[in-house]
Amino acid sequence: MKTSATLLMAMSALVAAEPMSVLRQKKLDLWSAQSEAGVFDINRYAAQAATSCVNGKAGEYQCKNVDLVSFLRHQDMGSSTRRGNDVWGWTHAASGREFGAVGQTDGTAFVEIKADGSLVYLGRLPTQTTSSSWRDMKVIGNHVYIGAESSNHGLQVFDLTKLLTITTPRTFSITSDLKARFTGFGNSHNIVAHEEKNMIYAVGTGTAAGCRGGLFMVNVTNPAAPTSAGCMSAGGYVHDAQCVVYKGPDTRYTNKEICFNFNEDTLDIVDVTNKRSPVTLSSTGYTGSSYTHQGWLADAGMRYLLLDDELDEQNRKGPAANQKTTTYIVDISSLTAPKFTGTYQSPATAIDHNQYVHNGLSYQANYGSGLRIVDVRSVTTDPTGKSFKEVGFFDCYPEDDSVGGRAEFTGTWSVYPYFKSGHILLNSIERGIFVLKYTGA
Ligand SMILES: *[C@@H]1O[C@H](CO)[C@@H](O)[C@H](O)[C@H]1NC(C)=O
Repeated sequence: MKTSATLLMAMSALVAAEPMSVLRQKKLDLWSAQSEAGVFDINRYAAQAATSCVNGKAGEYQCKNVDLVSFLRHQDMGSSTRRGNDVWGWTHAASGREFGAVGQTDGTAFVEIKADGSLVYLGRLPTQTTSSSWRDMKVIGNHVYIGAESSNHGLQVFDLTKLLTITTPRTFSITSDLKARFTGFGNSHNIVAHEEKNMIYAVGTGTAAGCRGGLFMVNVTNPAAPTSAGCMSAGGYVHDAQCVVYKGPDTRYTNKEICFNFNEDTLDIVDVTNKRSPVTLSSTGYTGSSYTHQGWLADAGMRYLLLDDELDEQNRKGPAANQKTTTYIVDISSLTAPKFTGTYQSPATAIDHNQYVHNGLSYQANYGSGLRIVDVRSVTTDPTGKSFKEVGFFDCYPEDDSVGGRAEFTGTWSVYPYFKSGHILLNSIERGIFVLKYTGA
């Protein structure tokens, strides 16, 4: 959250946005009520066979152009809390084999996605300390980096090549099976990876880490010995970020390391080329700002960015007043003066959580409305969002279908759409991990 009085644009948003503590409490209250209602009980959900999407349904799930290829419940992946969160993927370069790291409140489960899309559970890495609703993982090279909102958790570094020879599921040791554990911070909310630069940015770290929850930079060039590389705290708490080697239209920054930070009430663009003295290029608020959560570059030319606000739907704020999932479009052709150019609204009522753009499609994990695939290729010719089109979806949370969807923190947490096979991983909070396939291409 901003504190500088000079950031006038951000100021009006500041008044409206809710701090992390409020958002966090809303979710904890909901999830504990759900838990009491038996939502995370053992055997609550059935195992599920492959089901094609026909006439808008794949079994109990509403869908369009997305097939259910396979599914594993959280309980089938060794979790005793049976609650999911983040997910990421890893492809073993030499063999092309594809794997998923599936976040759960009590650890990280590993699965292989076979060529036919079937899932094999390989084992799990338990939480380093306590369980937490928030566990986040990203992959660089052959290693996965895992943080959690658990005190003293730090960053687990796990060598994914250990999965290549597994024949019986295995619970890995949080001591002898780790490649390293970085303890420069304890709890963290999210892990951001800049693969090309071997940098991990932990965000939302605790007070003791001394970085105000901003970009806590960890150099993982040598995964066995991660080192602290710097801290970007000027914008305060960062909820999530995307970091790139910049190749966009603002030639003042060509080849600089630029991060797009989703900072609770603003989009902050920062130059982190010099890790010891990073620079804020801009901090921009917008109408409707309630909790600036996450986003991703929309086009290969790095001219536009998509941003999701996690609380505008529930709070009926700005363009999201009708509670349809709202994606903001930002023209970032000037990194020092980004402009909000429009919004795209999903036909579904739901909160947005995480989205990743791949080949012109935004794969959105929109809580209660599940995976939403939006064709955003028109952004370069029409940045208003009016030409965006939903081309597929898979609603992994049927419980709210009878009321036409709800703006609630239920359903899916995140999605991984980058496998060469086209298999998409969708992690559901309640059910488990889905392998999906988009058939509309
Ligand atoms: C990261 O660590 C490597 C050595 O492991 C070093 O050569 C490099 O300069 C470091 N980069 C930064 C940005 O600290």
